[in-house]
Amino acid sequence: MAQLWGGRFTKETDQLVYDFNASIRFDKRLFQQDVEGSLAHVSMLAKQGILTEAEKDAITKGLQSILADVEAGKLVIDYKYEDIHSFVEANLIDRIGDAGKKLHTGRSRNDQVALDMRLYTRQKVQEMDALLRRLMEVILKTMEENLETYMPGFTHLQKAQPVTLAHHYGAYFEMFKRDRLRMKDIFERMNYCPLGAGALAGTTYPLDREETARLLGFYGPTLNSMDSVSDRDYLIEFLAALSTVMMHLSRFSEEIIVWNSNEYQFVELDDAYSTGSSIMPQKKNPDIAELVRGKTGRVYGALMSLLTTMKGIPLAYNKDMQEDKEMAFDAMDTVANCLILFTGMISTMKFHKDRMAVSAMKGFTNATDLADYLVTKGVPFRDAHGIVGRIVLACIDQGISIEEMPLKELKEYSECFENDVYEAISLKTCVEKRNTIGGPGIIAMKQEIASCEEYLNTHPNL
Ligand code: ARG
Repeated sequence: MAQLWGGRFTKETDQLVYDFNASIRFDKRLFQQDVEGSLAHVSMLAKQGILTEAEKDAITKGLQSILADVEAGKLVIDYKYEDIHSFVEANLIDRIGDAGKKLHTGRSRNDQVALDMRLYTRQKVQEMDALLRRLMEVILKTMEENLETYMPGFTHLQKAQPVTLAHHYGAYFEMFKRDRLRMKDIFERMNYCPLGAGALAGTTYPLDREETARLLGFYGPTLNSMDSVSDRDYLIEFLAALSTVMMHLSRFSEEIIVWNSNEYQFVELDDAYSTGSSIMPQKKNPDIAELVRGKTGRVYGALMSLLTTMKGIPLAYNKDMQEDKEMAFDAMDTVANCLILFTGMISTMKFHKDRMAVSAMKGFTNATDLADYLVTKGVPFRDAHGIVGRIVLACIDQGISIEEMPLKELKEYSECFENDVYEAISLKTCVEKRNTIGGPGIIAMKQEIASCEEYLNTHPNL
């Protein structure tokens, strides 16, 4: 046991209590942020005349040597310390003696951990934004290459109307764009510095909170010291945004699993991104997509866990808040890995474009267009809908698609059918006539792609 307190106590802490209370096993992740925060704190203390220049130099050198030694593997983060803050401070005192004891002047572990967690989360928000942007580049490339790759669009997982692969992928581009907007939003709201809030009520030392905020790259200091030490909203917002990212990845994965099935065969996963079966030699399984879908649950779990932890906590800091870390860290790792693997999987996946087109042709996806054709010949839409319904029934009976029915037979359903009907209901026409903003037609899609490109060009990584 190695702890920062003890003066007030007459007995040793019970070992089980000590272990239950300690957080170093998981908050060692905050090591770099902890040192970074201390460096800024010390530099401000000297500027304010609270520490001498000599004390500042000794502490700074000491902290930098601890940072370098841990990074080089020369100093191991030892679990005998209660938390990462104690580890750094104890090592500093070991290295530089009494000056090290002044590091914690005007600071509490409450504002220290609030700062460390915020610095760590801010970096993860930026990393997640970059990973999302990379995924969107891959999606956009597929869109650009597949403006005329026809496939069925579904509702209720039943073939509905033909679309293109570019159009289908464009839907995911929009989802991930919203995810990036959420990252930006969170960044803007969270980028204020809690350091200097002390335990809860600030401090009597003349700290310059503007200065530490500036040194650490924040927009400014947070405004209320009690809120500063007890706010984890930014982390909840991040976990909510990550949950939404996973929901999107999971839906996309589900589609890829379906498309990769023997029945569909719309896509083939690269060997590097699929796995075999130990018993069935014919198998090539979409495990990566399944795992991404499966891991969604644990990310939602982290969000629920933190919301629940925070809901009953009175102001200001309470130890419950130590529970903000383990599941949040797990969620951050999980989402980053999922984004990396998913991007790799879809950038190496092959499309069976012929099978997609045949599937679009076979499922009466042009039935609406046939009804629209009758409308152009003066038939009211509701009547046209009925006529086409009867034609579809006859086609199902005969095992043919609409365009395989001869004109003579079509005319039995309506005199309005002419030879131009076949052109009007071809897959190409069905798609290419849909050029309202956001539609799958080539003109509309070229505009959409231009906006996607413009978006990526004007939205660099956070
Ligand atoms: N390990 C604690 C946490 O993660 C650090 C803050 C401890 N503060 C305290 N007063 N016990 O929340």
